[in-house]
Amino acid sequence: MEHFNKTDIFPSHLWTLDFDNYSKYKRSFVEGIYQLQSELPSKQFSNKGGWQSPNLGVSRPIPFMDPFFDYIFNKFGEIFKEGSRISIMNMWANINPPGSRNDLHCHPGADYVGTFYIHAPKNSGNLTLVNPNLCSEAKYRFSSSHAQSSDHYDISPKDGMFVMFSPHVYHSVRENESNDDRISLAINFNIVDL
Ligand SMILES: [Fe+2]
Repeated sequence: MEHFNKTDIFPSHLWTLDFDNYSKYKRSFVEGIYQLQSELPSKQFSNKGGWQSPNLGVSRPIPFMDPFFDYIFNKFGEIFKEGSRISIMNMWANINPPGSRNDLHCHPGADYVGTFYIHAPKNSGNLTLVNPNLCSEAKYRFSSSHAQSSDHYDISPKDGMFVMFSPHVYHSVRENESNDDRISLAINFNIVDL
């Protein structure tokens, strides 16, 4: 007897992960990023306001973040098959003060895009992912709660949250409406399935 064959075409992926025991590390991460800001002039890409570091390199040039990298590279075993080779294509730190935002953009050349929220006060700017499948917005156009069919999907950042998604998904960051900086580390990953 024949059965339906299912193939998910043009898929987009989104993963989120909370860093265990984040309060143990937060202070050294925050201090490390502010130290970088005092040493490095800001780049201007999608950011409207705020400080964005130059490329911090392809490996681990900021040792104060090692506990984070150890944690996520270990956790990648849950989602990538054994033997996959995962490397950092480039990465940069962001400090977004009240009133700053990021315009719509995507990350060509990466296999996945990651953001780690080092300090993310309430209302400091949602990450808005735009549905790349344009015709699917018809039914739930203005809701962000239907991951399959709304025109966008919002993520409200919080301390210690790591978000990773497909690089072809256009995204923006809403205005920081809190009274405090939002601090994050953005990472483009390349992944080779061995
Ligand atoms: Fe981005």
